[in-house]
Amino acid sequence: MNAKELRNKYLSFFESKGHVIIPSASLVPQNDATVLFTTAGMQPLVPFLMGQTHPSGNRLANLQKCLRTGDIDEVGDNTHCTFFQMLGNWSLGDYFKEESIAWSYEFLTSKDWLNLPLEKLSFTVYEGGNGLEQDNVAIETWKAQGVPAEKITALGKDNFWSAGATGPCGPSSEIFYWTGDDDPKTQNPDEDERWVEIWNNVFMAYERYEDGSLTELAKQNIDTGMGFERTLAVLNGMKSPFETDLFTDIIGKVEILTGKSYSDNQKAMRIVADHMRASVFLIGDENPTTPGNVDQGYILRRFIRKSMIVLQKLGARAGSLGEVAQTIIDSYVEMYPELGERNSFIVKEVTNEETKFANTLEKGLLLLQRQIANGFLGQLRQKDVSAFEKFKGSNVIALLDHLSEYGFSEVSLKAKWLFDMFQSHGMPVEVTIEEIEGYGLTVLEKESLLAEFETLFKAHQDKSRAGAQQKFKGGLADTSEATVRLHTATHLLNEALRKVISRDIVQRGSNITPQRLRFDFKFERKLTADEVKAVEREVQKQIDAAHEITVEKMTPLKAQELGAQSEFGAKYPEQVTVYDIGPYSKEICMGPHVKNTSELGKFTIKKEESSASGIRRIKAVLA
Ligand code: SER
Repeated sequence: MNAKELRNKYLSFFESKGHVIIPSASLVPQNDATVLFTTAGMQPLVPFLMGQTHPSGNRLANLQKCLRTGDIDEVGDNTHCTFFQMLGNWSLGDYFKEESIAWSYEFLTSKDWLNLPLEKLSFTVYEGGNGLEQDNVAIETWKAQGVPAEKITALGKDNFWSAGATGPCGPSSEIFYWTGDDDPKTQNPDEDERWVEIWNNVFMAYERYEDGSLTELAKQNIDTGMGFERTLAVLNGMKSPFETDLFTDIIGKVEILTGKSYSDNQKAMRIVADHMRASVFLIGDENPTTPGNVDQGYILRRFIRKSMIVLQKLGARAGSLGEVAQTIIDSYVEMYPELGERNSFIVKEVTNEETKFANTLEKGLLLLQRQIANGFLGQLRQKDVSAFEKFKGSNVIALLDHLSEYGFSEVSLKAKWLFDMFQSHGMPVEVTIEEIEGYGLTVLEKESLLAEFETLFKAHQDKSRAGAQQKFKGGLADTSEATVRLHTATHLLNEALRKVISRDIVQRGSNITPQRLRFDFKFERKLTADEVKAVEREVQKQIDAAHEITVEKMTPLKAQELGAQSEFGAKYPEQVTVYDIGPYSKEICMGPHVKNTSELGKFTIKKEESSASGIRRIKAVLA
């Protein structure tokens, strides 16, 4: 089964059960300051799982772009990818456990759908805890499908799912697929890792608060997720997602560029394929990320720089990354037309970053070699004076050949030095460490060193932006009063720019934290100080006009006919909500917003700067 078949089957199946197929949301959550990336299919749906009305109804399904960086260092093995896709179906207070389980079973085993033999499947349910009982309803429902009792295991923490420390959550039932060559000796997936999880059904009926307590949500929801890459691999009897048709062209291209074979260079080629796929999707997203030193931009920079180093070590000539990016665009453009619309932008950003890094890398590596050589000489001076005398005038490269001969096998580094290597020489921390390890040296106390580096790195980020600590807390969908007000201000700013500066201005991304709004738009030059002031005054005028905000549901076509602002490249579902701010602004948007602009207070533009070529960025606050 290829990727397209699996996707089409899943979505058609749920369409036949009354679900509306909604487009994948952006990889970068727009109005949620609590996370850097969309990490699960349910994440963009959090406000709706918490009770807001979704414009497409209460049965939804899709294939969602996701990105997780928690296991970035594991990429290269059989299971980890940073960018991945998740199939999912949701009930927003509509059907619950029985239907969810019955449909999962039907989709997996029916001849009309995946037709998987029951022997290859195994199921887990929640054993209880958190003040909840064992999930006997789930057990009985699986049995009612014809699943024998021994194939149903009640387990603990993996069977209670929540996206973060707070927010919607619930007991879950996971479905596993047998990947062994022989018959399974146990039906308990915890006892044999050849049972691979392919699908998770979360019975999302609770909200968790900061103190860990649970309360029932107003509505009982279903949230299911099927890891697309992994499921495709196991259903095809493949070791890893990298062998599936999702990666064939990409790895083929890397083989051509390096003249090496995948079978001999599996780990390295997987890293390039994974990191470049993530990079292409981040730059090509409707809310684009470009390489930088903070937040999403820093992650992207690490992906590209790491890929470049790995690719060159494999023997590719400098400047090959753009070609890898093009191959990725070509193989995904049918599923993701946004990559085609931004084709040249993606390739240009990748190539620019590669060039920039090539220039700094050479200097950074020299510096690093000099440091290692100095450390070596320092040790010799103490341990072996005659060797020290012999080597002290030698050039650095010559010295590096003698490290192990004189027992120089460990280095102790300072986090501050690693940080300077990054900050002043553009060397991502893992590149610096890997280079050092490449000389056969062990970096002492690596874990605490890296933790200290992260602290320095975060402190640096905080300097550039208040409130960075808000991130990574693990909560989801921050709809605090502050972010709701800034969201409404963003709509006013969008319209004010069009009115004061140019009717041709279109939004190219937005991001809101409780402290500030950030708004990107297409415009070729810097705004003058007078223009910035004029835009600020215009927004304030509309705030003071005390406009009412109203909302209406309609098709995207109707919305566009009525002149609603929509975002370039955004994919809209069949029904959208349109927010009107009095007669002033009309935008397709999911909300939420304040009721009246008078709630916004004083609007100030803090910064107007370039965000990427042809894209300007405004940061503004409310007081
Ligand atoms: N949210 C659950 C998961 O990510 C199911 O969609 O596994």
